[in-house]
Amino acid sequence: MCGIIGYTGKKNAKKIMIESLKKLEYRGYDSAGISFFENNRIRTIKTAGRVSELEKTADEKLDTKTVCGIGHTRWATHGKPSEINAHPHGTENLMIVHNGIIENYDEIKNQLTDYTFISDTDTEVAAKLLDKEYKKTKDIISAICNTTRQLKGSFALGIIFRDCPDTVFATKKDSPVVIGEGKDENFIASDTSAFSDYTDRYARLEDGDVAKIEKDKITVFDSSGKKKNIKTEIIPSQKNSTGKNGYSHYMLKEIHEEPQAMKNTFLNITKNFLPDFTATIDDDSFFHNIENIHIVACGTALHAGLLGKYFIEKYASVPVRTETAGEFRYSEPVFSDNDLVIIVSQSGETADSLAALRLVNSKKLRTLSVVNTVGSTIAEESSKVIYTLAGQETAVASTKAFNVQTQVMLIIAIKIAIINNNMSTEKAQSILRDLLDCTENSICKILTKTQQYKEAASLLSECRHAFFIGRGYDRYLATEASLKLKEITYIHSEAYAASELKHGTISLIEDGTPVIAIATDKKFFKKMRSNIEEVKSRGAKIISVCSEDAELIKEISDYTITIPAADNEGNIFTTATAVQLLAYYTALELGRDIDKPRNLAKSVTVE
Ligand code: M6R
Repeated sequence: MCGIIGYTGKKNAKKIMIESLKKLEYRGYDSAGISFFENNRIRTIKTAGRVSELEKTADEKLDTKTVCGIGHTRWATHGKPSEINAHPHGTENLMIVHNGIIENYDEIKNQLTDYTFISDTDTEVAAKLLDKEYKKTKDIISAICNTTRQLKGSFALGIIFRDCPDTVFATKKDSPVVIGEGKDENFIASDTSAFSDYTDRYARLEDGDVAKIEKDKITVFDSSGKKKNIKTEIIPSQKNSTGKNGYSHYMLKEIHEEPQAMKNTFLNITKNFLPDFTATIDDDSFFHNIENIHIVACGTALHAGLLGKYFIEKYASVPVRTETAGEFRYSEPVFSDNDLVIIVSQSGETADSLAALRLVNSKKLRTLSVVNTVGSTIAEESSKVIYTLAGQETAVASTKAFNVQTQVMLIIAIKIAIINNNMSTEKAQSILRDLLDCTENSICKILTKTQQYKEAASLLSECRHAFFIGRGYDRYLATEASLKLKEITYIHSEAYAASELKHGTISLIEDGTPVIAIATDKKFFKKMRSNIEEVKSRGAKIISVCSEDAELIKEISDYTITIPAADNEGNIFTTATAVQLLAYYTALELGRDIDKPRNLAKSVTVE
């Protein structure tokens, strides 16, 4: 979703802003722009499309050196993706870039009768309100505070004022802003990846704070305009390289990083093949006396949460509700004092998940986040955090994050099961040994079986609709497999518990409709076979993703992707990797923009 950068220093700000915007491309966007100081005025360059377009235009139009500016990648919310709607927006006095949504922009716009508006954005309204407030007192900090007090919704703002050259201002509410502290240069950004090539020191702004960033000074004010202290920290280093490393796409590279990501996460939260969360949770009592668990997340993280429900109910016998964060916050959930709420998020910034966390925090319940991005808002605001050590995920489609999130859910289930005396340490060790074995062997094996995904992909790529089915835990994998396929191939697909098709959806099956049957849970092989026969007899083309020992399934499939047979839940992880590869090769066959699928953003920071 939108990305913000602001720079002030001695170097070429245009170059730094463009490079930083490229680092933020992973968030998803459809236009980009920069504003900077030139001859005591503010100049703006914007383009629809990719940052490379902006770079080309900026190279053509800007030959003087600028040392301060703000930049933005926009993911359209109000108004279509276009040059006019691209940020920055403003007046001759100031320009702003904005992440988030101003919910009362229409109301404010109606009151700004002295201004004309050229874009359809909520951001332009905020910029003109700020201009009005600034004209009243010519005091920048109080103008920002007075403006944000009138805004409803979420926002992170980067601002420059013509009257205060070479200085960047920032403020926020419910949308992140980080400050980067360098030597003779300072930054603001929506996340640290934007400036981590230039400095490893950062600080987070809190809601209501206003930051004044000069090249050799950072000053932060609270929402009443009083100066406050701010502490910088070191940006945790990424364990994996950030380039494509010879892979044709980030998605493929990230799928191939799964064994390492899982091993890093495993070693961080286990000891002697038993759960050990002491890296971030020093006291086991956090997991004592849990009455119910609520797992809340969005998208792929939600699917990891569904597997979490399966693991926790099976092993720890604690009732679990897994809910999409966007609905959870409005669903009047019923809690008891001993409940635990787990928020799962790769980015740690997803607006709906964060809002759900804040709702739960307001009720003073225990919260645990399972997060990949160290220092993200969700990690910071939950009572405890367990980090997934996947390293940076750049492709919009989440892959390695799903495997590590699911792995953490399994290890949490085992932890609670041991505490509740539902599982012996021997059983726990055997499950975790199998998990490590699957990580080190089975996943590596299936990564190399490229041919089977390509062949299945060539069957799938001809179709406009597909159905994924599974039973037991395989049905949750079917849901994730279906999301992956539609997200990057644009083939319409739906996922069902295999038993459910005959209650309605089977009417859609006709000659050649692809049904991808996931069958790795041994206890369901016979039942799955019956469900497959039900659709096959109505013309469905069956592509099965099944374990090597699933003879019953292989026999009746038109095409089979096999994964190594495993004990316990090892199959879940290999199957997840296999269906990610199936989606990848189908998208490749169709020539899709795999790492940046249309309309999608990596980090969804608006509701
Ligand atoms: O950063 P989060 O894990 O909170 O993101 C949640 C979803 O937006 C995300 O998983 C999304 O569904 C992915 N694009 C799926 O591949």
